[in-house]
Amino acid sequence: MIILSIETSCDDTAIAVVEVGDGKKPQFKILANIVSSQVKIHQKYGGVYPTLAKREHQKNLVPVLTLALKKAKLLKKSGGRFRDELLEKILKRERILLKKTKTFLKRHKKPKIDLISVTIGPGLEPCLWVGVNFARALGYSWELPVFAINHIEAHIFANLIERENGIVFPALALIVSGGHTQLILMEGLKKYKILGETRDDAAGECFDKGAKILGLKYPGGPEIETAASKFIISNSQFSICLPRPMIHQKNYDFSFSGLKTAILYDFMERPKKTRRSKKYIQEMSYKIQEAIVDVLISKTIRATKEYEAKTIILGGGVAANSELRKQFQLAINNQQLTIKFLVPPKILCTDNAAMSAVAAYFHWQKNRETSWKNIKANANLRIT
Ligand code: KG4
Ligand code: ZN
Repeated sequence: MIILSIETSCDDTAIAVVEVGDGKKPQFKILANIVSSQVKIHQKYGGVYPTLAKREHQKNLVPVLTLALKKAKLLKKSGGRFRDELLEKILKRERILLKKTKTFLKRHKKPKIDLISVTIGPGLEPCLWVGVNFARALGYSWELPVFAINHIEAHIFANLIERENGIVFPALALIVSGGHTQLILMEGLKKYKILGETRDDAAGECFDKGAKILGLKYPGGPEIETAASKFIISNSQFSICLPRPMIHQKNYDFSFSGLKTAILYDFMERPKKTRRSKKYIQEMSYKIQEAIVDVLISKTIRATKEYEAKTIILGGGVAANSELRKQFQLAINNQQLTIKFLVPPKILCTDNAAMSAVAAYFHWQKNRETSWKNIKANANLRIT
């Protein structure tokens, strides 16, 4: 089976083609996984600007689709037979995309794919709708089923791509991204219970805001990670002390806005020359990363013990952080937990469409009848 998946929940325009092998346990092989990042456009705002992101998605979707199909060797030129009576209606709010889609459909044959999937939420509403309407347009024209995907679930399933299904239940999934920080108990495949989540900023957002205060680029996570890696503890000279919000509270919720305020206060109290110095930026980056990593690991390990989890699953952009990955493994070893630890390759932690294709496969297994007509974006979608 071949799945074409579309993901536009934030500022990445992503399309993947994934082949699902037959065997007893499904094997997910990436034929193409194209991510067109809008980072450069949003950098000057220090964050994502939704209406701008929506316009960029409209411009990018057809080129990204073309590239993905070409890479998967599924792009066949001319002679396309497609339905177009309803295209105008489906893409009435995406005029730029409508024009490009019509041209594409006219020039290409229907590719040999079995189903289409699209992220419907959570995410930025205007961005989600572009992807959703594009998927509906393709589903309608090519007469293919369209599956609605939860972005958080997709981040979990990134762990199943091109490797054995290693999840042993009960499992605990920590999904940490720019928009979300959730600790989810999985009693089985697609059996979710949110144990806790952030009450304000997400972990990735704290990296991004911390970086902005320090004058580093967006997205802040990789910038902070690089700066932190240059700091040597024995050379510490600024006595920076940051809080670990909610670390000792018995619940599994998180809060990162207080940490951001503490970063800002420390920064403002320093002389201008100090706070612009490489040494200060590197030491502060190290401390920010340390504080976020400490809280995430402490709460996850505590939940692991309470719920006797057999697997810890990481996902989301922040899971690409090397220190988080390393410290998690160390904590598991130090506490002598007999538990599996799954984390996707870094490239599959940040937003991509391959992970949504895996989620689509499991939806298809449960319910094969799904039409493009019923798909809607839902910016506040919860995992259930
Ligand atoms: O999952 P993702 O690509 O998009 C959302 O669903 O939000 O996550 C993006 C977030 C950003 O906040 C970014 O700063 C953070 O992930 N991030 C990182 C790293 N790479 C990306 N945070 C820490 N360390 C990294 N290496
Ligand atoms: Zn994400």
